[in-house]
Amino acid sequence: MAYEPAESRYDGMKYNCCGRSGIFLPAVSLGLWHNFGDVDDFEMARAMIHRAFDLGVTHFDLANNYGPPPGSAERNFGRILKQDMRAYRDEMIISTKAGYLMWPGPYGEWGSRKYLLASLDQSLKRLGLDYVDIFYSHRPDPDTPLAETMSALDTAVRQGKAIYAGISNYKPERTAEAAKILRDLGTPCLIHQPRYSMLDRWVEDGLLDVLEEEGIGCIVFSPLAQGLLTEKYLEGIPESSRAAKAHGFLQREQVTKDVLKKVQALNEIAKKRGQSLAQMALAWVLRDRRITSVVIGASRVEQVKQDVDALDGREFSEDELARIEKILRDVR
Ligand SMILES: NC(=O)c1ccc[n+]([C@@H]2O[C@H](COP(=O)([O-])OP(=O)(O)OC[C@H]3O[C@@H](n4cnc5c(N)ncnc54)[C@H](OP(=O)(O)O)[C@@H]3O)[C@@H](O)[C@H]2O)c1
Repeated sequence: MAYEPAESRYDGMKYNCCGRSGIFLPAVSLGLWHNFGDVDDFEMARAMIHRAFDLGVTHFDLANNYGPPPGSAERNFGRILKQDMRAYRDEMIISTKAGYLMWPGPYGEWGSRKYLLASLDQSLKRLGLDYVDIFYSHRPDPDTPLAETMSALDTAVRQGKAIYAGISNYKPERTAEAAKILRDLGTPCLIHQPRYSMLDRWVEDGLLDVLEEEGIGCIVFSPLAQGLLTEKYLEGIPESSRAAKAHGFLQREQVTKDVLKKVQALNEIAKKRGQSLAQMALAWVLRDRRITSVVIGASRVEQVKQDVDALDGREFSEDELARIEKILRDVR
């Protein structure tokens, strides 16, 4: 069936300005880390991309290594773009990254110019695109001078192969250094992509302050802690869940009694708010105005819809926030 995007696609989504740039990102973005590889159901992947776009999700987040096998999420997304969405390319923000292992030998991972620029060329081929909107250094490299990694991002932008540069998983001090190098090169750092959720709050210890000061946007990954912050694990580990999959990044051992106790208590608050726990967890991350977007993952179309609908319940009372805080701190 040919795809026709919904005419209403811009009616419900909220768009936030990315730091002090001119680009707006949807408050909910879709990431293709899991469920878009060759091991997954292509028609489901396609349906989720369509549904997301119909709901105003204009931003799709990829990386060279997403799959499995690595590279296959980019290839599958490229196929969907070509088949269904070529006419809408200018309505989309597509990102990719390089940093993790992609090919053997000393040039297949981390942060050298050689690796980053070769990887971007490979990503563009897989995606079937001339350029991506955002190209990220996926992780800091302890052995490559930061100036070299940043110069590769600057080159990618100057070559027209990326429109903006971003960094991911950088700690506060390195982020400030990277921002200065990029600013001096004339390619400002648009965005940082850290992990942040109710269960992992490291960004609150300095990173968000640096981002605000530098005018860098913040798009948060794993805002649902890979699915832990939903109701799905309360009665055990369902067969189709990430924790049950051999290639899933969430391990069975991470679904602990302590986590489930917290999740159960949070779920009670979510119910009183008239939201699912997933929706409350997303709204909670977005409560900080320094967060530009949450990049969710999904394995089903209904999850995409439910997660976007989190935007209908973004407000928290002081009392709700205090009760959530207490659960996150005290429940073991
Ligand atoms: N920069 C980096 O280093 C980095 C690292 C990791 C991820 N990322 C990016 O962040 C994106 C999101 O990461 P993530 O997939 O870990 O995010 P997440 O949103 O925390 O977890 C996604 C998983 O949560 C479950 N889920 C989502 N909505 C649900 C709902 N409404 N009800 C029940 N379950 C729901 C699904 O699990 P099931 O599959 O079990 O159904 C889904 O696969 C990635 O795709 C990637 O683009 C970046």
